[in-house]
Formats: sequence, structure tokens, C-alpha cells
Amino acid sequence: MHELSFNKATILVVGGAGFVGSNLVLKLLQKDSARVIIVDNLLSSDIANVPDDPRVDFRYGPITDDRILGALPENLDFVFHLSCYHGNQSSIADPLADHENNTLTSLKLFERLKEIKGLKKVVYAAAGCAVAEKTYDTARATNEDAPVSLYHDSPYSISKLIGELYGNFYWKHCGLPLVKARFQNVYGPREVLGAGRWRGTPHTVWRNVTPTFIWRALRQEALPLDNGGNASRDFIFVEDMARGLMCAAARGEPGGVYNLASGVETTIRELAEIINAETGNTTPVDLRPARDWDRSGRRFGSTEKSRDKIGFTAEVPIREGIARTVAWTRENRDMIERCIHQHDRFMAAL
Ligand SMILES: NC(=O)c1ccc[n+]([C@@H]2O[C@H](COP(=O)([O-])OP(=O)(O)OC[C@H]3O[C@@H](n4cnc5c(N)ncnc54)[C@H](O)[C@@H]3O)[C@@H](O)[C@H]2O)c1
Repeated sequence: MHELSFNKATILVVGGAGFVGSNLVLKLLQKDSARVIIVDNLLSSDIANVPDDPRVDFRYGPITDDRILGALPENLDFVFHLSCYHGNQSSIADPLADHENNTLTSLKLFERLKEIKGLKKVVYAAAGCAVAEKTYDTARATNEDAPVSLYHDSPYSISKLIGELYGNFYWKHCGLPLVKARFQNVYGPREVLGAGRWRGTPHTVWRNVTPTFIWRALRQEALPLDNGGNASRDFIFVEDMARGLMCAAARGEPGGVYNLASGVETTIRELAEIINAETGNTTPVDLRPARDWDRSGRRFGSTEKSRDKIGFTAEVPIREGIARTVAWTRENRDMIERCIHQHDRFMAAL
């Protein structure tokens, strides 16, 4: 397999101030990219995540803005489309905002990119959860060609699929060299609790399970386990994810889809135990009933295709990844605290 070469490349990262996006930008800068353009409206991210580097060209605003689209350079080599309306619960609270920031974004971006000649690859951040089988029985690894249901638990999930559908259309009909990277559950440094604007629910602050558990565990609080913590996920460390995105860009077949997964199933209860051990939290877990909107059960991704076709295998075991995320959280406590507390008045008004 050929080397991952991004040297002297001009790269656009849409959503590059976000959790995964900012980790990807840092990794691209290590590769000596000539220029990384970030387009981000900071809807679910903080400016602190934008690297201070002369090669980074930060353009603040939505990717649906015609002025931003029109000003994109014609010599783009790679595009990573990572923006979304974060996350499931916010999209249930405001489906129109989800449409604006999670569906229209893909359509307008692809419509603009089809004009750019010489694009090597466009990588779309697809969601493994949108295609996962929903079961509490023995889970099987989700393959790339798993059947897709027409019934979804959130507008977010629908939008992520629509992005794939538009991507397929622009690839087939306009020759856009689009590759779909299906993410499992990413965790790691730079996922900032509370980052960005209020999006209608407490999940604006609490985002995903891993950073929430780490934050609470560092405060010696009980970790809440919905449905007894029996659900499972495939947790992948964000540096692995950033490398996987680069493998998809360098080696992915246009029109192709690749899981970016660890392939390891971890229950939420196991995750809580690892985090409590790493942080020294001795407060017992808080067992709770199931969430009404979430019927996703157990799931993990199949890793064979991405290993064989794009040379990607996740490397960071969960205990090591959690230890590094806990260390980052400790180091960035003040910044995270600022982002959490910017929503205090909205939270109090609920
Ligand atoms: N983190 C995960 O576990 C996970 C799992 C599956 C899929 N994904 C996908 O990966 C991508 C990155 O996720 P993340 O966890 O880094 O989320 P994130 O919220 O940290 O990043 C999304 C970024 O998009 C920006 N954004 C939102 N609307 C925008 C718009 N209209 N124009 C420009 N920028 C806009 C946000 O401000 C934010 O910086 C998303 O597409 C998400 O759906 C993530």
C-alpha cells in the first residue's frame, strides 16, 4: 500500500474546529501539509480547538454560506466533511436546525465541490450507528454492506444517511471522488463538554458518554448507567480515527465505504469501571432504567474491509486511550469548566 502523502497539499476540513476535526488537523499538520482551510461556525466547538499555526486558514461561518463556498480555492486536493448538528438529542429537539447544519451542509458542499477539477478525494464522516443492527441479543460486527432501515430514532441519524445518499449521487453523476468513512464511537482529547452554542437540551453540555463519565468521575460523582450499562459500543480513540480518515483519503476507492472501528465491543458498564479505576473514583455506579429514545442495544463494527483495502487498523487499546483522555481532561479543566458553565442560564431555565 502506498504511503499516506499529504505533503504540500491544500486541504479543506469542514467542521475542523470540532472534536474529530481538530485532531485530524493536528495530524495533517504533522504531515507537512501546505495549507489547511477550516470552515466552522463553532456551533458545537470552541475556538480553543483551532490550532495556532500559520498553515491554518480558519474561516468562521456555516458551510452553507454562498460566500464561503464561493471563496474556496480551486486547487483543493483533499476535503474532509466532518461538520454535523451535534447530536441525536439536539436533533430531536430541533429537527430544522439539524437539517440546516447536517443535511443542507452536505448538499451545498458537494454541489460546490463538483466544480473543482483536480480534487483527489472527498471524505464524508458517516455514522456507523445509522446502519447498525439494533439488538440486545448476541451482537455481530456491522459490515459496510449491512442493510439500512427506513426507521430511525433521530433526525441526526437520518441526516447522516442522507449525506451518504447525496455523496453517492455526486460520485455517480458528477464524478466527485467521494469516500464514506463510517465512524464508530470516537473518544479522546479535545472533545470539550459544553463547547459551542446552546442546542436546546442538556446534551449540549454532556455530549457523549466518555467525556461525561470522565468529568463526573474526576469529581468523585456516581456514573449513571442507563439500562444497567448493558448496551455496548465500539470505542475508537480519536488519534486512530484521524489516521483512519487519512487512510480513507489516500487509499479509499471513490464511491467506497469503509468502517473506522476498533472492532472491540465494550459495555457501558465496563467503560464506567475503566474510567473509575483510572480516575480513582470510589463512588458506586448509579443504575438507571433505559432511555426512551435509544433502542440501539449492543453494537460494534467490522474491521476487515478497512484493514484489507485501506490499510487501517485501530491501535490504541481502550485502557490506554482512557488514561490519555483523563490526563488531557485534567490539564484542560479550566477551559472545559468555562465551556460547561456558559450554558448555566439555559440549563437553569429547563
Ligand atoms: N464523535 C463520534 O463518536 C462520531 C460518531 C459517528 C459519526 N461522527 C461524525 O463525525 C463528525 C465529527 O464529529 P465530532 O464528534 O467531531 O463532532 P463536533 O460537534 O465536535 O464537530 C462538528 C463540527 O461541525 C461544526 N459545524 C456544525 N454546523 C456547521 C455548519 N453549518 N458549517 C460549518 N461547520 C459546522 C461544529 O461547530 C463542530 O465544530 C460529524 O460529522 C459526526 O456526525 C462522529
